Order: sequence, then structure tokens, then C-alpha cells
Amino acid sequence: MSLVEAWVADLPKVELHVHHIGATAPHTVAALAARYPDAGVPSDLDALERFFAFTDFAHFLRVYAAVSRLLRTPEDVYELTIGNLLDLARQNVRYAEVTVTPNGPLACGVPRDGLVEALDAVREHAAREYGLVVGWILDIPGHPGPPAEVVMDLCEHAPPEGLVALGLGGPETPRPQFADYFARGRALGLPGVPHAGEAAGPASVRSAVEDLHAVRIGHGIRAMEDPRVVALLRERAVHLEVCPTSNVRTRVVDTLEEHPLPAMLAAGLEVSISSDDPPMFGTTLTEELLVAARLVGANEVPTLLGNAIDASFAPNDVKRRYR
Ligand code: ADE
Ligand code: ZN
Repeated sequence: MSLVEAWVADLPKVELHVHHIGATAPHTVAALAARYPDAGVPSDLDALERFFAFTDFAHFLRVYAAVSRLLRTPEDVYELTIGNLLDLARQNVRYAEVTVTPNGPLACGVPRDGLVEALDAVREHAAREYGLVVGWILDIPGHPGPPAEVVMDLCEHAPPEGLVALGLGGPETPRPQFADYFARGRALGLPGVPHAGEAAGPASVRSAVEDLHAVRIGHGIRAMEDPRVVALLRERAVHLEVCPTSNVRTRVVDTLEEHPLPAMLAAGLEVSISSDDPPMFGTTLTEELLVAARLVGANEVPTLLGNAIDASFAPNDVKRRYR
């Protein structure tokens, strides 16, 4: 291990953009796949690696949906999530905002209360046993109407403890149709943190800011294609959660060397580094910070981590611990 690798591995970290289902270690996915063969997910580790070779963003979303069908009981949710949080804690992540898309598990038989109880129990366990503080982001899986209402029902009537924000993932369909959900979220004190500017272009970023009042955006990298959208992000101080390897693996960017992170920093955008769906993309948060160090210099790593804690919804005592 090089000096930089050892230093980054050791740094106290913040993770703002990681998906609950997408953060699952391959051996856990394989065990669940063996339990539920009808989900269409391989239970053999080599086959799983091939299953996670994405031809494009739409293919990634199809695979992701199949993995989402592996959560069928509150115990599955507990087991999977606790493993994910332990993986974060082992990287010295002290604060994480974990995105949960409840639709898959709820459609596959997990009762609403069972899901919430599992999330509450896992969060409590992570704080007590791993010293890891968790905030949840519930996200709408890219479709308005009934799928979005499932998420709003949880936010409005049965929020898990530590719910901090409302997200929007899945296919980047036009954003204005989600404006009412995000207004309802804000009325509950939940800021909007949608994905945008990943598979879709800069117009999706503008709409996330103007229609959804996003305070942070997942990815947002394609804002760089329109200087007016870059100016809007700067003006409104919207934070971008950048996940470099994700963008290469979903084929939004050709190679890491061509990733726009350096241009984003040069343009004065406020960014941090996240891992998105790390085992699916063959990465970790530590590795993503090392990618950032290669792209923009190791001396930017503490700034990127500082940006993450500043843009987080962490309680003040947690924020103070990073200073
Ligand atoms: N769900 C999980 N990962 C995602 C991503 N990178 N973009 C949109 N939806 C997702
Ligand atoms: Zn994401």
C-alpha cells in the first residue's frame, strides 16, 4: 500500500450518496439470490461479477431492479443493511446518508412497518457498535404516480428514524412531474436530493434545481455541458455528489481519465465524492477518494471530505467532530 493509499484509508470519512441495495457485498447478494432464485440474480460469485458488467445505464437499472427483488422479509433487510453499514464503518466512515428505495422490498412482501423497524434497528446498531451515524434518504424510483406515492406514504406516515431527505433515482424521466412530491417533502422538512445530469443532460440538472428545489444533486456531472447550468449551480450553491467509477461503469463517461471532476472543481462547483453502488461497480468509497486524488491531487481530498460534511444533514454534534 502506498503512503497516499494508507493515508486515505485512515481518514475519517463521510458518504453522502450510497444506495442501500447497491452497496451489498457480492457474497450477501449471492446468498439472497440462492434463497430467491426466481429474482433472476446469479448465486455464483463469478456469474454475479459478469451480471454486474453493464452495457449502458438502462441495463444497469434492469440489473438493479432484479437485485431489489431479493429483499422479501424484514430479516433480509436487516441482514443486508447491517452488512452494508459494517463495510462503511471498516473504511472509517463516521457519517453516512444511505439511500433506500422502498418499492422493491414492499412489492416483494416486506410489510411497511417491518421495513421501518429493520431500518431503525440497523441504524441503532451501527451507532452503538460501529460508531457510525446514519441518515436515511428515501428515494422515488423514477416514476410518478403509484411508485412515488409508496415513498411519500412512508415519508408522511411512517418515516424511519433519522430520515433526512427525499431523493429521486431510476430512469431520468422529465423532472417537473415530480415537483409536487418534492414540495410535499419540503413541507415535512425533507430537502430534495434527486439524481440528475447522469444519464440525462444539463436540462435535467436545471429542472432539478428550478422545479424540485434540489439542495444537492446526485452526479450532476453533465451540467458541465451548459455553462448557464454551471452558473445556476454556483448561484444557488447546489452541491454535487460525484461518483466517478459509477459514471464509467454505467457508461455515462468513457474512462476515468476523461471524468469531468477536474473541470467541475476548476469551474468553482461545490462537489464531494461518493461511491453510489460500490460492489456493483467494483469500488469502495476509499477507492473513489483515491480516484479523486489521481484526478485532482491528493491535497484536494480533505477539501472534498470537508465539502461532504458541510453539505450533509448530519446533526451539529457530528459535524463538529469532523472539525
Ligand atoms: N439507483 C441506484 N443507483 C442509481 C444511479 N446511479 N442512478 C439512478 N438510480 C440509481
Ligand atoms: Zn445513485
